[in-house]
Amino acid sequence: MNALAGKHLVLGLSGGVACYKSAELARLLAKAGATVQVVMTEAAEQFITAVTMQALTGRPVYGSQWDAREPNNMAHINLSRAADAVLIAPCSADFIARLAHGRADELLSLLCLARPAESVPLLLAPAMNREMWAHPATQRNLAQVRGDGAVVLGVGCGEQACGETGDGRMLEPAEIMEELAAFFSPKLLAGEQVLITAGPTFEAIDPVRGITNLSSGKMGFAIARAAREAGAEVTLVAGPVHLPTPRGVRRIDVVSARNMLEAVDGQAHEASVFIATAAVADWRPAASAEHKIKKDGSGEVPALAFVENPDILAHVAQGERARSGRLYCVGFAAESENLLAHARAKRERKGVPLLVGNIGPATFGQDDNALVLVDGAGHQELPRASKQVLAQQLIAEIARRLGHTRAA
Ligand code: CTP
Repeated sequence: MNALAGKHLVLGLSGGVACYKSAELARLLAKAGATVQVVMTEAAEQFITAVTMQALTGRPVYGSQWDAREPNNMAHINLSRAADAVLIAPCSADFIARLAHGRADELLSLLCLARPAESVPLLLAPAMNREMWAHPATQRNLAQVRGDGAVVLGVGCGEQACGETGDGRMLEPAEIMEELAAFFSPKLLAGEQVLITAGPTFEAIDPVRGITNLSSGKMGFAIARAAREAGAEVTLVAGPVHLPTPRGVRRIDVVSARNMLEAVDGQAHEASVFIATAAVADWRPAASAEHKIKKDGSGEVPALAFVENPDILAHVAQGERARSGRLYCVGFAAESENLLAHARAKRERKGVPLLVGNIGPATFGQDDNALVLVDGAGHQELPRASKQVLAQQLIAEIARRLGHTRAA
């Protein structure tokens, strides 16, 4: 399921402080099962040594077009023919200019020019000072290289090595990994608009206290990432969790079940798939005190009365869009026992075509899980695996069912 496993990448480093991040990137690529051939410009070698990159990739680094190690002395041909993609990270302003002009007087730009453009994509992770990034010459060159077929992965925003703050930082290695995974993943959900709820909700008792649950949001965030990798436009409505937003995913933060319902209602009219992974609080305190409830010294404890929260999934599943078949709804069930029986009953009760069951206490906060998928045809188990792998499998199953329902 790992889109990078078995891929062979040429990782090109041009000159920039961000070269230090490329060491971590090379390590992450190797960990994901990719093989990495590093090529460095002379400027890159001012920032990091070839020794480091060779040690991390297990392959000698190339730096010159006159490298006699190649029997035919054509490193630019041999290296580019063997690659599934060429990734330049960091890609300096100067290197973008070289690409735009088709320069070929050093190995890295030479191999970019010489690569078979149809079969070996070129991806760029730019890195430079914010003024250099904003300069019309850089933007003009970027437009040119995009027009010539390069994929520009974007830049980060924040503090820069020069002390200034703004756009132009190289993406973090983990962000580049997400972009690469998305690039190489089959686009099973292309054209779909996927709306996902994730995490717990928090129901206030007073301004400093409330009721919540142990959901970490990890499964929902993993599904959001997998859906985006599969080519969908993804909106993630997240309860209070401490997780980074997957790249390319639009996130709406909410607190309570009622906030979540409102956010979902605002988005559902555009969605074609709704996946409700959130552990929504079933009840909320009937009243939330305006000020902190104080002990009055009498030893009496406050009595809490509860009212039921709206059922977001059932509300969406009963809506006109879902009933007319334009919105495919997927529910989750977090159970503690009798998983299959509960999941079947919950599917009926919620009125959804697909319900995904898991054992809540065994998965809350963990990085792995096991799922059982229940639909009208029966059930299917997805054995214990990382949440990211399960998310990819689930997305593939949803895509298969969408194809099926749409073809039918
Ligand atoms: N759900 C929802 N809104 C709620 C409660 C649940 O959208 N107020 C969604 C969850 O996101 C999940 C599914 O419904 O997709 C199942 O939720 P769960 O709480 O496990 O089921 P309940 O219907 O509350 O049943 P029970 O508490 O009896 O297990």
